[in-house]
Amino acid sequence: MNRIFSGVQPTGNLHLGNYLGAIRNWVALQRDYDCVFCIVDLHALTLPQRRDELRANTREVAAAYIAAGIDPDRCIIFNQAAVSGHSELAWLLGCITPLGWLNRMTQFKEKAGRHRDNAGLGLYAYPVLMAADILLYKATHVPVGEDQKQHLELARDIAGAFNRQYETEFFPLPEPQILGEATRVMSLRDGRVKMSKSDPSEYSRINMTDDADTIALKVRKAKTDPDPLPHEVKGLENRPEAANLVSIYAALAETSREAVLAEFGGKMFSIFKPALSDLAVARLGPIGQEMSHLLKDRGLIDGILHKGSERANEIARHHMAELHDIVGILRP
Ligand code: AMP
Ligand code: TRP
Repeated sequence: MNRIFSGVQPTGNLHLGNYLGAIRNWVALQRDYDCVFCIVDLHALTLPQRRDELRANTREVAAAYIAAGIDPDRCIIFNQAAVSGHSELAWLLGCITPLGWLNRMTQFKEKAGRHRDNAGLGLYAYPVLMAADILLYKATHVPVGEDQKQHLELARDIAGAFNRQYETEFFPLPEPQILGEATRVMSLRDGRVKMSKSDPSEYSRINMTDDADTIALKVRKAKTDPDPLPHEVKGLENRPEAANLVSIYAALAETSREAVLAEFGGKMFSIFKPALSDLAVARLGPIGQEMSHLLKDRGLIDGILHKGSERANEIARHHMAELHDIVGILRP
């Protein structure tokens, strides 16, 4: 059976990159796979969080999933900490993961910054917990944005190492699914850095909850160059801001960059930007509205998460029992 697992951290400022790189793709995949979509609160704790914000952000991610079109009856939606198997399996996997593998992780280096000795053990072990998330459900496919590719390769290596060490084929090797025209959405202020939740500039990103006026303003202010759009994709080389806006347009319109340039090649940004902003408003507006509608009903969101965690736990408990057998842990 093919199963999908993916997740988003409840760290606020859900943005267009999260939508186009991840959540939007999940909506299409739910028809063909058994899907588990998680709000990875334990991962969020690898950097300091305020408790009220963590709770509010957890509900916000759940609302984003549902508003984007993920069906909570068909898919399992839950928060990671509600299923203790994630932490338990992370320990078992941590015991077989060489430090050398973790030392290669670029996201740790970025997040730890220059004072690496002050970074927490959790931040270092982050990719091991991520491998546990996926492997706990024996997921075969993991739809994510491009920035998670290295973590997924590690998850495959860890699965392989476990299978070899215990002479089993228990874990499938999970496949990354990096889909669509916008697998790496860049900042609207600088086409060379990723759009991110933690960028201090609000103008660097379009948030999933932005209203029409805010989206229009952010697109209008987006950095560009003075040239008209090229007629061919090759002409986007060395024009990171233009390349980013064209990719965003293509992803939102569910078409290719070639098709976007066939329409807008030779036109100035003064023509392209209003079209992009109308498209973004048309696609994101209804989702943002549905999110705020859902967030007014905490009982509804919490009920969905509760039911999701029961379903997730059912699978997780079963797999953990088998894992205890494989590893040799006594279950008295
Ligand atoms: P995070 O916000 O780090 O929890 O990421 C959640 C999901 O969104 C992951 O699948 C990421 O790969 C994806 N993602 C985050 N930022 C971007 C971006 N700028 N472009 C495309 N995908 C992204
Ligand atoms: N590390 C991912 C991110 O920040 C979030 C995540 C945690 C995840 N566990 C996962 C994604 C398991 C896919 C599968 O984007």
